[in-house]
Amino acid sequence: MKNWISFPRAEGVASRQAHADLPPGTYERELGKEGFFGPATHMHHAHPPTGWTEWDGPLRPRAFDLTKLDGAAASPWDAVAVLGNASVALRFWRVGGAMDHLVRNGDGDELVFVHEGAGELYCDYGHLSFRAGDYIVLPRGTMWRVECHEPVAALLIEATGSSFLLPERGLVGAHAVFDPAVLDTPRIDDAFKAQQGETDWRVVIKRRGRLSTVTYPFNPLDAVGWHGDLAPVRLNVADIRPLMSHRYHLPPSAHTTFVADRFVVCTFAPRPFETDPGALKVPFFHNNDDYDEVIFYHAGEFFSRDNIKPGMVTFHPCGFTHGPHPKALQAALKPKRPATDEVAVMVDARDALDVGKLPDGVEWTGYVESWKGEGGR
Ligand SMILES: [Fe+2]
Repeated sequence: MKNWISFPRAEGVASRQAHADLPPGTYERELGKEGFFGPATHMHHAHPPTGWTEWDGPLRPRAFDLTKLDGAAASPWDAVAVLGNASVALRFWRVGGAMDHLVRNGDGDELVFVHEGAGELYCDYGHLSFRAGDYIVLPRGTMWRVECHEPVAALLIEATGSSFLLPERGLVGAHAVFDPAVLDTPRIDDAFKAQQGETDWRVVIKRRGRLSTVTYPFNPLDAVGWHGDLAPVRLNVADIRPLMSHRYHLPPSAHTTFVADRFVVCTFAPRPFETDPGALKVPFFHNNDDYDEVIFYHAGEFFSRDNIKPGMVTFHPCGFTHGPHPKALQAALKPKRPATDEVAVMVDARDALDVGKLPDGVEWTGYVESWKGEGGR
């Protein structure tokens, strides 16, 4: 336990609890440490904290439209680097048809999030079908390849030097959010056996970011069986049953799906809005002051963000306040619909992320202005 310099105080006009019954006409901002787990203060402002008129300097909220990355790559090692640091690498991969080689990541576990398309994964452990909305965790060192039925677009999240784990479920227990029984593993089935054979296969291995190729005179995906507690797993977002409260807007940390060293992966899945008259219905303004935040928008309508479409990414580096866009803010206490159908993947990184070299036109350079109202884009 950290011995924080931490003791609750209240000053001026303040609500008694977070995210509910705000003083009339005020905007709540959470200033928090440790990604919503550490000491925090809820401040009541007279103006929206995103009401800036000018912004100068390298720090700024950024947004990228990955649908404009249209080039397919036969290997995940040719995917486009979007954001990364020493602990996590986020890449966007478009692939079609069948890979003619195997790959193996020697740098860390890989989490594949299938944004579009469907296909078959073949790996050391057997055969696994995949479709849009699937997460596939590939333990470091797994050999794999895909055969696509339709063009696939995927977000690749590498836990560099570490492993993907499940988060602590705490009070709600091990079967909340998703029951681990819903995790599917590859099977040694007829399709897996049918792809085995005595022809040459290349394995392209990534280690320390550099590639090496090992060639076999047979398909090394030749297992006849296995036993153990290490295997790739598949989880579809449709099987996530998110935590929610009708009286309290839960923080993003309640939606944590996987954790790794120095970053977490959260999933925002369809859920009803809060119904309590005094409860906040949209994300509160916040400084998540120890984390850089990335959200990849997969499907549905993103209730807290104006002008954001599936396939886009927003990047909120540590150091400034952010929160709902103007239209969403108007709906903060009176949502037009009873529920949100959004599906989004969030990556919160403990260390500063660098943006990859992206082609012109991928970045929405006006994003910083998008809190000003209708004219953001
Ligand atoms: Fe945030």
